[in-house]
Amino acid sequence: MKSRPIGIFDSGVGGLTVLRTLIDRLPGEDYIYFGDTANVPYGTKTREQLFDYAHNIIDFLLGHQVKSIVVACGTHSSVTLPEMEAACPVPLLGVVKPGARAAVKATRNGRIGVIATQASVHSGSYANAIKSIDSRCSVHSAACGRFVPLVESGLLNGPATRQAVREYIKPLLDLDIDTLVLGCTHYPFLAPMIQELAGPDVTLVDPAEETVSELTDLLTARDLINDSHLGSRRFFVSGNAEYFYQLGRMLIGDVIEEVNRHSMEEHQSLQEFKGEDYAQHLG
Ligand code: DGL
Repeated sequence: MKSRPIGIFDSGVGGLTVLRTLIDRLPGEDYIYFGDTANVPYGTKTREQLFDYAHNIIDFLLGHQVKSIVVACGTHSSVTLPEMEAACPVPLLGVVKPGARAAVKATRNGRIGVIATQASVHSGSYANAIKSIDSRCSVHSAACGRFVPLVESGLLNGPATRQAVREYIKPLLDLDIDTLVLGCTHYPFLAPMIQELAGPDVTLVDPAEETVSELTDLLTARDLINDSHLGSRRFFVSGNAEYFYQLGRMLIGDVIEEVNRHSMEEHQSLQEFKGEDYAQHLG
């Protein structure tokens, strides 16, 4: 069981911000990363679509015998994870609760900003999680619809990105926040620019650190940490593998050695053909 890989997924390259922290802190683990690039962005999708994607991806990762799954996506952590975690046969960890914990630890004035996708903001997940830890905090959220397409295009700098950051961040700064949660896993790639425009008095919270701490505690408690070798990484995407390879290496370097395409439509029809539904698979 110890030697089984850890699954991790997102709509695209966003989850790489969590993967790089995982590799840093748990270097002996084998990782299987799935980027659903045929369906990016997730932030504008309906609940039904998101559940459909989550079922297929979790099923795919379970097929690789993963010992746990990191939902390295704020949108899925907000919308699908709360309903899916109980039925999943391996631990399913998201980024929302860890992000909320880190924000409450970081704030001095109790005024916390959250930037995330439309679906995450609409769900109220971060605000609820923060308030359940400390009800005195006030939470101010903004959906930043342009950020994911910018990051997926590799545009981390430049005038269009700067303009978008300014537009989204300014109203939150006017509300005197001292802490800003990067509530979508794509956003830490924009952290240098966000920090520059927010100024030194605002603490940026990347939920990745706290998420990896939670996973480490969980694996340690179950005696599942793999530290017997230097871990490996495998990457799968539902869209263009070559594009993900190039962009991914630009973002996190040569830890990405190869990317394979795995079509979710083919995956789904195969499952239907086998007559398996998710519940059966899990049972
Ligand atoms: N990186 C994901 C998130 O944290 C998905 C963003 C998107 O595809 O819209 O929400």
